[in-house]
Amino acid sequence: MTDESVHYQPPPDSSRLTGRVAIVTGAGSRSSDIGNGRAAAILLARRGAQVLLLDANLAAAQQTLRMIESENGVALALQTDVTQPDQCQSAVRRAVEAWGRVDILVNNVGITGPAGTAVEVDLDDWDQALRVNLTSMMLMAKHAIPEMRKRQAGAIVNIASVAGLMGGTTSLLYPTTKGAIVNMTRAMAAHHGTEGIRVNCVAPGMVYTPMVAGRMTPELRETRRMRSLLQTEGSGWDVGHAVAYLASDEARWVTGVILPVDAGATAGTAKMPSLRNDFKRAPD
Ligand SMILES: NC(=O)c1ccc[n+]([C@@H]2O[C@H](COP(=O)([O-])OP(=O)(O)OC[C@H]3O[C@@H](n4cnc5c(N)ncnc54)[C@H](O)[C@@H]3O)[C@@H](O)[C@H]2O)c1
Repeated sequence: MTDESVHYQPPPDSSRLTGRVAIVTGAGSRSSDIGNGRAAAILLARRGAQVLLLDANLAAAQQTLRMIESENGVALALQTDVTQPDQCQSAVRRAVEAWGRVDILVNNVGITGPAGTAVEVDLDDWDQALRVNLTSMMLMAKHAIPEMRKRQAGAIVNIASVAGLMGGTTSLLYPTTKGAIVNMTRAMAAHHGTEGIRVNCVAPGMVYTPMVAGRMTPELRETRRMRSLLQTEGSGWDVGHAVAYLASDEARWVTGVILPVDAGATAGTAKMPSLRNDFKRAPD
């Protein structure tokens, strides 16, 4: 063992983020309830981080701000469209102006995007949705990484989806972009590991959040719940907890990981019928 591994002693609470500065994209939510980005922002603030809340919808980011401030957390809300390179640059600059550094970037913005197979999908809609779901994450990283390099430390968490790990989604755009985020995470982890910057990905399963709630029938909600091994419904908090772990020093030896938070939906099927037993005991 190296001296480093022999002598490493975790601090009393490696989950704390006191003094760290985090940027969360899509930190609002499309309703007053808890989405993935809002939950992640609140949980990072609870751990002591100062959080810059980016959202194209300023009112949504401000609502998250009020939630954080009501718990005595520290945050700022900034209207930012993460498809726009200059706005991504300004957002990182704002975090540095306010708090002097950037330690954590959570790339959470994502939309379902246009429906349709390759035959049906509209090209302009496809291009625009690629920009929202994928290019935005590169743009935010482009400006955040130089700040992280100054301390030779940082954590980026990209939000993909189990739709990026498996087939079976009716549209082509959503699983394509989410699959690209999975491998973008691994590529970025390889590029920046020696700089002390960890890059990981959370792949949420069918959590019940405002992103999907408005388009849900009770039957579909029940089908989504039953699809997982735990057969319980997840929420934005489940995704947020995974983000907070990956952003913290508890994950100091974790990079390039794709963490499904899906109640086991991608691990297997609970009710697969099995074949008749063919095991014969050897005679004693
Ligand atoms: N809810 C689910 O079932 C589920 C499952 C898997 C993955 N996800 C992923 O979780 C992420 C989002 O979760 P959420 O619950 O926070 O969603 P949400 O839709 O509630 O909130 C996302 C926020 O992003 C903002 N936004 C949209 N486009 C933007 C842009 N160009 N620039 C800045 N902000 C923009 C919206 O205004 C909104 O407030 C997405 O990446 C999504 O694909 C969700």
